[in-house]
Amino acid sequence: MKEQGSTKMGMYLNEIFKARPESIDPDNFITAKYYVESPLGLESSGIAVATEESIGTWTEISTTNDWVKTRLPARVYKTEGEGDSGLVYVAFPIELFDVESSGIANILSMVAGNLFGLSALKNIRLLDMDLPKSIVDYYPGPRFGVGGVRKLVGTDKSPRPHLGTIVKPKVGLDPDQTAKVCYEAAMGGVDFIKDDETLVNQKFCPLEERVSKVMSALDKVKSETGRNILFAVNVTGAPDSMIKNAETAMDNGCNTLMLDIIILGFPTMEWFIKNYDFKVPIHMHRAMHAAFTRNPKHGISMLPIAKLARLLGGDQLHTGSGAGKMGGEMGQNLELQSVLSFLKGDWFGKKNTFPVASGGIHPGYVPANFAVFGIDFVINAGGGIHGHPQGTRAGAAAMKEAIDACVAGIPLDTYAKTHPELALALKQWGERKLSED
Ligand code: 3PG
Ligand code: 3PG
Ligand code: MG
Repeated sequence: MKEQGSTKMGMYLNEIFKARPESIDPDNFITAKYYVESPLGLESSGIAVATEESIGTWTEISTTNDWVKTRLPARVYKTEGEGDSGLVYVAFPIELFDVESSGIANILSMVAGNLFGLSALKNIRLLDMDLPKSIVDYYPGPRFGVGGVRKLVGTDKSPRPHLGTIVKPKVGLDPDQTAKVCYEAAMGGVDFIKDDETLVNQKFCPLEERVSKVMSALDKVKSETGRNILFAVNVTGAPDSMIKNAETAMDNGCNTLMLDIIILGFPTMEWFIKNYDFKVPIHMHRAMHAAFTRNPKHGISMLPIAKLARLLGGDQLHTGSGAGKMGGEMGQNLELQSVLSFLKGDWFGKKNTFPVASGGIHPGYVPANFAVFGIDFVINAGGGIHGHPQGTRAGAAAMKEAIDACVAGIPLDTYAKTHPELALALKQWGERKLSED
C-alpha cells in the first residue's frame, strides 16, 4: 500500500487542493496557518492536510462527484520557507462547516483534527486560525470584557493592572480557613481571588460553604475599605454537576465563575454559554494546555485557543506569563505577544478579554511582566503572596506595591526603600531584572 505523500497521493486531485491567495475571500473561508516539517516539502504537506481534512483520502476514490470536487476542497494558498520546514496556509470553504449545530467541535475536527497524526508529516503545529465574520458574529464573545471587569472592580477611571491571588495550598483548607486567607489577601490589596484549578467541591472544602464564607469575608472588606473584590469559584466538572455548582455558587453571592476550558472541552463551554447566563464574568483557566502548546514544532499554539476562548465568552483568560515558573521567557515568547495583541485588539466588535499572567510570580517578577503585558492584565500570585515572610496580607501589599511602582515608572529597589513589605519580598526572592533576558 502506498503511504500518504507517495507519488500516488501526490497526484491525486492535486490541483483542486491549491488556490491563489487572492482567490481566498475571508468571508467564505476559515483559514489556518501551520508550521510543518516533512520530507514532502511545504506545498505537498499542505495538500496532504487539505486532502485529509476536506474531501480526499490516501488514494483515489470512485465515490466523489463534481460538486464535491469543485465546492469543498480545502486549499493550500500560501507557503513560506524552503525545503522540509516552514509555514503552510490552508483555506477551508465555509460550506464545510455546520456551525449552528456542531459548532466549534466541527471547526476543530477539520482545522485541528486527523492532521496531527499524518505519518507523512514529521511535525505539524496549528499556529493561527482566522474565522469569517459570520462565524464570529454567531458567538456572543465576552459579556463584560476588560472594561466591564474594570467597572466591577472600580479601576475603570484610572486603569492599572489587576492584582490576583490563588488561595494556597491548592487544596486542603476548610471554608473558614479559605475565607480567612481571602480576607487577608483582600485587605492587603488584591482585586481578584480564585480557587485553584484542582479545587471544586471536595469534602474538606464544600463549595456552598466556601462561597458563602468567602463572600461574607469579602463583604466585610467592602464595608471596611469600599473595595469590591472578585472571587472566581471553580465549577469545572461534568455538565450536570457544573450547573448545579454554578447555581449554588450564585445563590451564595458568587461574583465570578471559573471554568477550565481545555479540560471541559470547547463543546461543553459552548453548551454552557448557549444555555446559561449567570450574569457574572467568566474566568477561563487553561490547565492541560501544555500537553499540546508546549512543543514548539507540534500541536496547537495558544493563539487559536485564545480566539476560541474569546468567542466563547471569556472575560479573563490565562495566557502564560512574561516571566514566571511556567514558560513565557521574556523577549522569546512571540506566541504570548500574538495572544496579547489578539485579546486586546478589535475583533469584529467583540469585547476584549483580560489576559491573566500566573504561575510562579512574586513581586520581583512584576516589572518583567508589566513590560510584556502593559496596563491591561491581571497578575496572579499564589506562593508569591502567601509565602511572604510576614504572611498573606503583607504579601498582597508587596505585590500591589510592585504594581504601583511599575505604573509610576519607579524602579522596585527605589520604591522598596519606603515600602517595607516590598523590601522584604525582594530580599526573600530577588528581582528578575529586565536586562537578564
Ligand atoms: C496558567 O497560566 O495556566 C497558570 O499558570 C495557572 O494558573 P493559576 O496559577 O492561576 O491557577
Ligand atoms: C498554579 O496552579 O500554578 C498556580 O495557581 C500559581 O501558583 P503560584 O503563584 O504559587 O505559582
Ligand atoms: Mg493554579
